[in-house]
Amino acid sequence: MKSKQFTLFALILVQILEQFMINVLAININNNNNILPLEHVTTTSLLTNNEASKLLLSPESYLSLSHYHSTCPDLEGIIHRQVQAWIRKDYTFAASLIRLHFHDCVVRGCDASILLSHKGSERRAKVSKTLRGFRIIDEIKAEVEKKCPKTVSCADILTAAARDATVVAGGPFWEVPFGRKDGKISSAREANRLVPQGHENVTTLIQIFRDHGLNILDLVVLSGAHTIGRSSCDAINHRLHNFNGTRKADPSLDTKYLNSLKKKCAASSHVYVDLDATTPRIFDTAYYTNLGRNMGLLSTDQLLNSDARTGPFVSVLASQPLVFSSQFAASMVKLGNIGVLARPNEGEIRFKCSSVNRAY
Ligand SMILES: *[C@@H]1O[C@H](CO)[C@@H](O)[C@H](O)[C@H]1NC(C)=O
Ligand SMILES: *[C@@H]1O[C@H](CO)[C@@H](O)[C@H](O)[C@H]1NC(C)=O
Repeated sequence: MKSKQFTLFALILVQILEQFMINVLAININNNNNILPLEHVTTTSLLTNNEASKLLLSPESYLSLSHYHSTCPDLEGIIHRQVQAWIRKDYTFAASLIRLHFHDCVVRGCDASILLSHKGSERRAKVSKTLRGFRIIDEIKAEVEKKCPKTVSCADILTAAARDATVVAGGPFWEVPFGRKDGKISSAREANRLVPQGHENVTTLIQIFRDHGLNILDLVVLSGAHTIGRSSCDAINHRLHNFNGTRKADPSLDTKYLNSLKKKCAASSHVYVDLDATTPRIFDTAYYTNLGRNMGLLSTDQLLNSDARTGPFVSVLASQPLVFSSQFAASMVKLGNIGVLARPNEGEIRFKCSSVNRAY
């Protein structure tokens, strides 16, 4: 009798859970901007069921956590071990890999277009000048090709490497959905137009993120990756001297911080300074706390604190480390799903990450 009651209880629980999952799925589908209005599909009688369902599915819905489970079971192990080894040798690679992934995704989606190395490619653009980590991806790809040839895309490797870089730096873990394919087009001109360079105003930043389906919270949270990043003095010298033609420093900079920056940057414009002045090697919320003390390195960092649209998020994140880590994970998944080439017949699996496959 007891066990019968228990079985009934379990059955009810399963049903509640199932209904919950259906609701969640319905919400996800309703939130999806890429789908056609349902009337359109049902009235277009020429479409087969199969074609109609393809139109309904967004590219990212082709991604899956189990994509390589049978075709390359140790993929994530290979990526993690290499990323960890590189970052142990030089911790600054953690920020470099996250930045490389971001630069990839904001131009033509996360399709590894940033890795292509030919004349006029994104990688050769002015905004890409200080990108690093290409060799790490190449070496991971070489090992992956040995174990599972012609199977894993460079776009998926770069996405997982950014996740592992976060983890090795002490940040949160999240599951990466796989199944991206690699793009064949890469343009320096597009990169120069689309990638934020550190001097935009908040309206422009919000617009850039919105164009990729990322909201204001995503903007503030992903900027939190600057907790481990660096920037060249080149990018901030205009804030230290003769700001906006005033012959003085940017008045929004804390005086002590300003003086330490002037000292560091006096040597050369190629010197690097930490974006998080207090705990540059730790993935924490000090970046946000520092913004509240006028210690944001880039003007785009400092503006996030003073702008009425983004400032409230900065204050919350500064004092809520758990909110920051869980939301960083969520926003990184969103970033990694931008404009993916995942439908059948889209993109290719590159043999080498730096060049498209030759046509036969
Ligand atoms: C922000 O920058 C854009 C592009 O430079 C400019 O057109 C716009 O007027 C600026 N907006 C504000 C509020 O300053
Ligand atoms: C820069 O100077 C111009 C003209 O003096 C002024 O209108 C503008 O608000 C200043 N910008 C900043 C960011 O201080």
